[in-house]
Amino acid sequence: MDDLIFLGIESSCDDTAAAVVTGDRRILSSIVSSQTPLHADFGGVVPEIAARAHAERLDLAVEQALAQAGLQLEALSGIAVTAGPGLIGGVMAGVMCAKGIAAGSGLPLVGVNHLAGHALTPRLTNGVEFPYLMLLVSGGHCQFLRVDGPEDFTRLGGTIDDAPGEAFDKIAKLLALPQPGGPHVEAEAAGGDPRRFPLPRPLLDRPGCDLSFSGLKTAVLRQRDALIADRGGLRAADRRDLCAAFQTAVAEVLAEKSRRALAASPVPVLAVAGGVAANRQIRAALEQVAAIAGAQFLAPPLRLCTDNGAMIAWAGIERFRMGHRDDMTLAARPRWPLDNRAAPMLGSGKKGAKA
Ligand code: KG4
Ligand code: ZN
Repeated sequence: MDDLIFLGIESSCDDTAAAVVTGDRRILSSIVSSQTPLHADFGGVVPEIAARAHAERLDLAVEQALAQAGLQLEALSGIAVTAGPGLIGGVMAGVMCAKGIAAGSGLPLVGVNHLAGHALTPRLTNGVEFPYLMLLVSGGHCQFLRVDGPEDFTRLGGTIDDAPGEAFDKIAKLLALPQPGGPHVEAEAAGGDPRRFPLPRPLLDRPGCDLSFSGLKTAVLRQRDALIADRGGLRAADRRDLCAAFQTAVAEVLAEKSRRALAASPVPVLAVAGGVAANRQIRAALEQVAAIAGAQFLAPPLRLCTDNGAMIAWAGIERFRMGHRDDMTLAARPRWPLDNRAAPMLGSGKKGAKA
C-alpha cells in the first residue's frame, strides 16, 4: 500500500491549497495560495470573498501541484479533499473541484475532516505512532485531542470562546498593530515586562482542559483604556508591556492545560499544530511541560502546521487505507466534530462555528 499517491485539496478557510503526497510520507509538492491580502481591509476573513477566490484559484493550485510533482492525474491513486468543518462556500468549492476531477479521471474520492488533517500531520512529518496528544492552536481552532487511530479522536478540551490566534489578532488590533497579529504581538512582547500588568489566567481555577481567551482580551482592553485615560495615549513601552503580559498569560494557560491533558492521558508524544505554535514563548512553555511529563515534544515545520494540502492528502491516504471511499454524494459540512462523544463547543472563530 506504500505506493499510494494522493492529491490533497484544502479550501476551508483563507488558504487555497493543493499537494501531492505518497504513502511512504514523501511530499512531492505543496502549493498554498494565501488570501490574506484579499481580506486585509476587513479585519477578518470575509466568507463570500474567500469562497469566490477559492473557486477561481483551485484549478490552478491543482495544476501547479501536479506539475511540481511531475505527475499526470493517471499516476495518482486517489483524491482527498477537505469536506469540513470550515466556511461552507470554500469547502463547497473544494469538494466540487475534487468531485469533478474524480468523475473525469475515475480516481477514488476521499472526504477528509480538516481537523483530522492537522491532527494526523505528525504521522506524515515524523512517522509518529498512535496514541499521541495533539494541541491544535490557530486562528480558528483550539483543542486538545488524544489521537488513537486515523479515525479515532478523543477531545480532552477546547476553547469555550475565542481561539488563541484570534485573541492574538484582536490584541494586535486594539494596540494598532498589523494583521495577522500573532508575529507582531510576539515581536513587541520580546522587549516588554510581563509583570507590569496583572492579567487573569482564565479557567485555571476550573478542573479539566477547557480554555477561554476572550476575558484576557477584555482585560488588555481595560488596561489600554486606563492608560489612555491617564496619559492621553499609549507609549511604546506600554504596548510592549501589554503584549508581554498577554503572551505570558496565554503561554502559562496553554502550558498548565497541556500538563493536565498529559496527566489525564499519559502518552509518549505531545504534538502541536496551528499558526500559534510558531510562538517561541508558547513553544518553550509546552516543551518544558512535555519534558517534565517524560513525553517527546513535536512541532511539525510551520508550513505543515498551518493550513495546507499535504495534510489533507495524508489524512486521505490514512482513511483510504482504512477502507474509506466517498462518491458523488460527498457533502460539504460547515460543522464536523472529530469526536462525536464530546459535547459541542461554544463560540465562533475566524472559521465560523468551532467544530
Ligand atoms: O494555522 P493558521 O495559519 O490559520 C488558521 O487559523 O487556520 O493560524 C493563523 C493564526 C493567526 O491568528 C496568527 O495571528 C497566529 O496564528 N500566529 C501567531 C504567531 N504566528 C501566527 N500567534 C502567536 N505568535 C506567533 N508568532
Ligand atoms: Zn486549519
